[in-house]
Amino acid sequence: ARRDRLRMRLLHWYDHNRRVLPWRAAPGETADPYAVWLSEIMLQQTTVAAAGPYFRAFLDRWPRVTDLAAAPREEVLARWAGLGYYARARNLHACAQAVAADHGGRFPDTEAGLLDLPGVGPYTAAAVAAIAFDRPTVPVDGNVERVTARLYAVTTPLPDAKPELRARAAQFAHDYRPGDFAQAMMDLGATLCTPRRPACHRCPWTGECAAEAREIADDLPARLPK
Ligand code: ADE
Repeated sequence: ARRDRLRMRLLHWYDHNRRVLPWRAAPGETADPYAVWLSEIMLQQTTVAAAGPYFRAFLDRWPRVTDLAAAPREEVLARWAGLGYYARARNLHACAQAVAADHGGRFPDTEAGLLDLPGVGPYTAAAVAAIAFDRPTVPVDGNVERVTARLYAVTTPLPDAKPELRARAAQFAHDYRPGDFAQAMMDLGATLCTPRRPACHRCPWTGECAAEAREIADDLPARLPK
């Protein structure tokens, strides 16, 4: 019951505060799996603001995954320039080719199927499964780790806390609007539940958050000294 309340509060907050981002489908519309996958790969190494222009340019140049698959590798790498980490661009191209060659040009619609693609790890598989295919799974990135560590006042330092944070986040998996829930968690972490000086008084989970109650939100997640 508590989890349902938390879920509904977050979704309600998201409905009123969702960021308009180029890869987001309009409310009620389904997202294009190719666009979701492309955005998630780009966002692994760059900010939402920096990724926007690249995302649009790629979709302009290669509107479908089969177009990207057929592109010369040099051009893919050239258009990736500025995003950094060329290994990721090579993986991107390899993944597009795998979707084209092995899956008839359609992304697999399950988390396990997505995980088998080149360059697609647990985070990306869960993100695409939830956002593009409404699969009940919760992608866990740094934002979601922070939000979860605070909600449950998990004081174990990262990276040791990762399994616990994953397990706790996974308990939110649900058939009701999983893609919106995933992106709501990301937006909460990016806009209110920020690394420093989180805006707890504006949070949809104010009064529910263990870190807020203990006034330790600013200190979480803890990190082992390097
Ligand atoms: N960061 C990574 N994926 C994102 C998404 N889909 N929306 C907002 N921020 C993100």
